[in-house]
Amino acid sequence: MPEYFVVRGTVEPGDQRGRELGFPTANIALRDQDGSLGDGVWAGWIGRPDGTRLPAAISVGRRPTYYGADGYRLLEAHVLDFTGDLYGETLVVWLGAHLREQQKYASAEDLITALKKDIAAATQWTADHPAASLPEPGESPLGEVRRLTV
Ligand SMILES: Cc1cc2nc3c(=O)[nH]c(=O)nc-3n(C[C@H](O)[C@H](O)[C@H](O)COP(=O)(O)O)c2cc1C
Repeated sequence: MPEYFVVRGTVEPGDQRGRELGFPTANIALRDQDGSLGDGVWAGWIGRPDGTRLPAAISVGRRPTYYGADGYRLLEAHVLDFTGDLYGETLVVWLGAHLREQQKYASAEDLITALKKDIAAATQWTADHPAASLPEPGESPLGEVRRLTV
């Protein structure tokens, strides 16, 4: 049974570093700061209010490269091959495959190298797990993480 972590949330402004790195992210606050969903990097999908679903590489954690262990825990979705603006939209995020743990990188270049690999892995995984196969998200409080099976 394929299992997904699913979270709804409204996209908040980040600190714009993602754009500078070349990998903009949609940032979503998590209600549950400890929770059943551990830190890590995932392949998954996002759903927009207009019903479209887009593939994404998703980070859950505290951005240890920039904030040490004390950063605020959040979800950041880098939507693949997407250039539009998602600020203020309430998205559904499906986390389907755990790719790796969060790492503290020595440089921005090292982080970029890792992001490129994540994106390649997320591209492959989303091709194998199309949007039509996702479980229906239903309604849930913003930022609350749920586990759904198909
Ligand atoms: C797929 C993906 C993987 C990431 N992995 C890490 C990581 O291992 N370590 C880390 O410190 N930050 C990681 N990040 C977060 C970046 O540090 C973050 O997106 C960047 O600093 C931009 O932050 P901003 O959205 O607030 O501008 C990852 C982000 C994405 C999208």
